[in-house]
Amino acid sequence: MENISLIAICKFGLEKLVKLEVIRLGFPEPVVSDGRIEFNAALEDIPRLNLWLRYADRLLLKVGEFKALTFDDLYEQTRALPWETWITPDGRLPVDAKSVKSALQSVRSCQSIVKKAVVDRLQEKFRTASLPESGPEYAIQAALLNDVATLTLDTSGAGLHKRGYRTENVAAPLKETFAAGLVWLSPWRPDGLLIDPMCGSGTVLIEAALQARQIAPGLQRDFAAEGWPILPAAHWQDARAAARAARRTGPPLELFGYDVEETAVAAARLNAANAGVAEDITFARQDVRDLWIDRQFGTLISNPPYGRRLSDFQEMNQIYIALNKMLRKKTGWAVCILTADPKFPDYFKRARPDRVRKFFNGRIRVNYYQYDAVKTA
Ligand SMILES: C[S@@+](CC[C@H](N)C(=O)[O-])C[C@H]1O[C@@H](n2cnc3c(N)ncnc32)[C@H](O)[C@@H]1O
Repeated sequence: MENISLIAICKFGLEKLVKLEVIRLGFPEPVVSDGRIEFNAALEDIPRLNLWLRYADRLLLKVGEFKALTFDDLYEQTRALPWETWITPDGRLPVDAKSVKSALQSVRSCQSIVKKAVVDRLQEKFRTASLPESGPEYAIQAALLNDVATLTLDTSGAGLHKRGYRTENVAAPLKETFAAGLVWLSPWRPDGLLIDPMCGSGTVLIEAALQARQIAPGLQRDFAAEGWPILPAAHWQDARAAARAARRTGPPLELFGYDVEETAVAAARLNAANAGVAEDITFARQDVRDLWIDRQFGTLISNPPYGRRLSDFQEMNQIYIALNKMLRKKTGWAVCILTADPKFPDYFKRARPDRVRKFFNGRIRVNYYQYDAVKTA
């Protein structure tokens, strides 16, 4: 029975992917706004969604939504919500708040008022003078946007980008959810060749392999709502068993990753092994300036170093020129480059990009330059 509202939170710019993913997972009418996709579901859907959402940052359970122009509104209406339906008497109750274009601007005040309202409600309903907060975590979020407060409980816990496979990091790794989105937005399909010539910890290629093998991205981790008695362990066990059964074997994949740093290559190999896709990806140490491709068709996805110093900029220009040389006569290659450097298209010099998608990578504004392959090559 579909009786709860869930909100998948995502990076700005990935809403369409998350919407399609939510539809594919069986929820036909999601409502999309900036960075959030809301849909009706049943409580029992929470495990499957957490296991399978590939591009979303976290999955929130909506407890209520109301207009709040004063702190009294916020307190009274938060207190009026049925928190005891979800939360146990020993539940831990961290509260986070954010406010955008709203009269209630003090995030700290919103946090403490919401906390007080929830605690007062639970004490009344559970007929107790104190809450030990020693049990499962129910992370509460109060998000104010245009004076409308949305009150949620976080079912995911750690962000969904934390798949569990990336035990080895390099400088500036991409979030796994973002890398998965970049792969999805590229023309690569599992029967094609994909290379990342500056692969760092291997995130793009590992996410591509997970997609190709239909491996649920959350299979190796746990989630906050696993501690909630309202969601019995059997639901999680069933969702995990179904996810394990969904894994596809099939013909070998053609995924190749290179990096100039031996430590990055070692990290990428270990991460791929952790993700269960070591056999699907070939990693090697190689400077992109010496890399040569002899295949006529393929997809290249990469995020080169962004650079901050003059010497970095010179090296980056050399990298772009190397990419241009490598691919100059290879019009059968699609090229997708994520960079904060607006000079990239000038140096890469392959006509104009067919699409430029804008994102934030952390706090840095980045562009995803996409060049289509010319099919007649
Ligand atoms: C921004 S990081 C890539 C991060 C990667 N997408 C991830 O998620 O881990 C850029 C990578 O380019 C590599 N790199 C820099 N110069 C290179 C070159 N000349 N040839 C190959 N790799 C290079 C760096 O070692 C670094 O790992």
